[in-house]
Amino acid sequence: MSNKFYVTTPIYYPSGRFHIGTAYTTVLADSMKQYHQLKGEDAYMLTGTDEHGQKIEEKAKEAGKTPKEYVDEMAKMAKELWAKMKIEYDDFIQTTEERHEKMVQKIFNRFMEQGDIYKGEYEGWYCIPCETFFTQTQLVDGKCPDCGREVKLMKEESYFFHMKKYADRLLKYYEEHPDFIKPDYRKNEMINNFIKPGLEDLCVTRTSFDWGIKVLKDPKHIIYVWLDALTNYITALGYLSEDQDLFNKYWPADLQIVGKDIARFHLIYWPIFLMALDLPLPKTILVHNWIMMKDGKMSKSKGNVIYPETLIERYGLDSVRYFLLREMPVSQDGIFSPEAFIERYNFDLCNDLSNLLNRTVSMVNKYFNGNVPEYNGTPNEVDKEFEEYTSEQIEKFEEKWNHYEVANSIQEIWNLIARTNKYIDETMPWALAREEQTEKLESCMYHLIENLRKIAILIKPFMKDTADNIFRQIGIKEQDMKNWKNLIEYDKIKNIKVIEKGEPIFMRLNGEEEIEFLKNIMKK
Ligand code: MSP
Repeated sequence: MSNKFYVTTPIYYPSGRFHIGTAYTTVLADSMKQYHQLKGEDAYMLTGTDEHGQKIEEKAKEAGKTPKEYVDEMAKMAKELWAKMKIEYDDFIQTTEERHEKMVQKIFNRFMEQGDIYKGEYEGWYCIPCETFFTQTQLVDGKCPDCGREVKLMKEESYFFHMKKYADRLLKYYEEHPDFIKPDYRKNEMINNFIKPGLEDLCVTRTSFDWGIKVLKDPKHIIYVWLDALTNYITALGYLSEDQDLFNKYWPADLQIVGKDIARFHLIYWPIFLMALDLPLPKTILVHNWIMMKDGKMSKSKGNVIYPETLIERYGLDSVRYFLLREMPVSQDGIFSPEAFIERYNFDLCNDLSNLLNRTVSMVNKYFNGNVPEYNGTPNEVDKEFEEYTSEQIEKFEEKWNHYEVANSIQEIWNLIARTNKYIDETMPWALAREEQTEKLESCMYHLIENLRKIAILIKPFMKDTADNIFRQIGIKEQDMKNWKNLIEYDKIKNIKVIEKGEPIFMRLNGEEEIEFLKNIMKK
């Protein structure tokens, strides 16, 4: 396995507050980064904002600002949210930065020089909110087939990218690289819906507005925002600049995460641009579904929007990160509902996890004055079976996580938490204490603490604070005991002491009250 891991999120349109759906990709990317870092790899995460185009120009005008003032404020707001969500990105790129704009111009020039881009005239329809071109036949009832909004008729001199030329090469690449697109069914969608019917050349410049990167050799043309935006993944690493160290180190990306609505741009145009640049393609592009509300998409007009800050302030960051990753199936949309959120909080986090920690800390205090007994090296039948189950669950977690089945992999951790709770009921430490079966009682406490340590390591990529809280309460101080290197074994911890009085990490909520609270907030 290579020891670097480069993960990217899409760069966001800075067009307002981010709702919890938008935050999903970033939480996922951060969790992937954390996981690889905990495994000792050199992980690097990129995010940022996609700041050019007609949509942004119009938004800025509405706000009475220059486009640059507007996007800088929005980028600041995005950074504040990511800080609140403890997203540890390594770089945040704004596409209005010089380091990006200059390289996009160079890339465009190269495409022109090598004949990938030619001049023509574009006549067709354009959806401004989606920044996408459509032909008459692609429209649905005369509207945008993606978002259902009005489209504009456009006729202007434009440059085109020779997509057709690369269609066969792209199909072959898909075939030869089964890990390139995850999940698999997204590949068939691309082939059947876009490539097989015949790939159209892509219009890559506009002339009827101003807010974008100019073509160096023909400055009345503005570079199409998607060509501009997609290249951020390499310009941020210094591609074509004087210092290409990061690029040489991290490219190709190991994982690029995108939502289903922008799959086509990343699975067709992006690899073709990279082929035209003679660059290797990312190892995997993961396409995820959307977080929806019971009544469909989140929208202000429907009164069903929920913002991450609201949830974080009231329920803590980790419950939000947990919920987002836990609720999104691989092949369907995930649903946010106040009921589901509160249920996951009360059952998964409070009953299952928080109570396990609390019961364990109080028993170690009660039976051994807080000192965790040592591993005796010869586990009895029950403990052996428990150890085996735990190792299997860790394997299952890793297998699914490595295949980007994130919700399912987290389920495996909660199966382990449930089994660990059951272990307490099975071994009945209170009876062992009463009967003075000290050896068994010691082994039982040791195994509980070890499993809590393992659980904390497993949840750490997506619930950092909770993991650290568990380590603190069970007395794990050594950094080495908190990462993957020492995850599996059972004889690792020695001389540790739990805190004197356990602190609940998640307190049970009054379900009805909280559901009511969330419903009211969503209406505002
Ligand atoms: N600017 C483009 C991306 C350019 S990448 C070179 C863009 N920006 S966006 O702000 O509209 O969307 C950013 C990401 O958020 C996309 O991956 C999109 O799918 C995702 N999401 C937006 N709403 C979402 C949900 N409700 N649920 C999950 N993800 C969602 O597209």
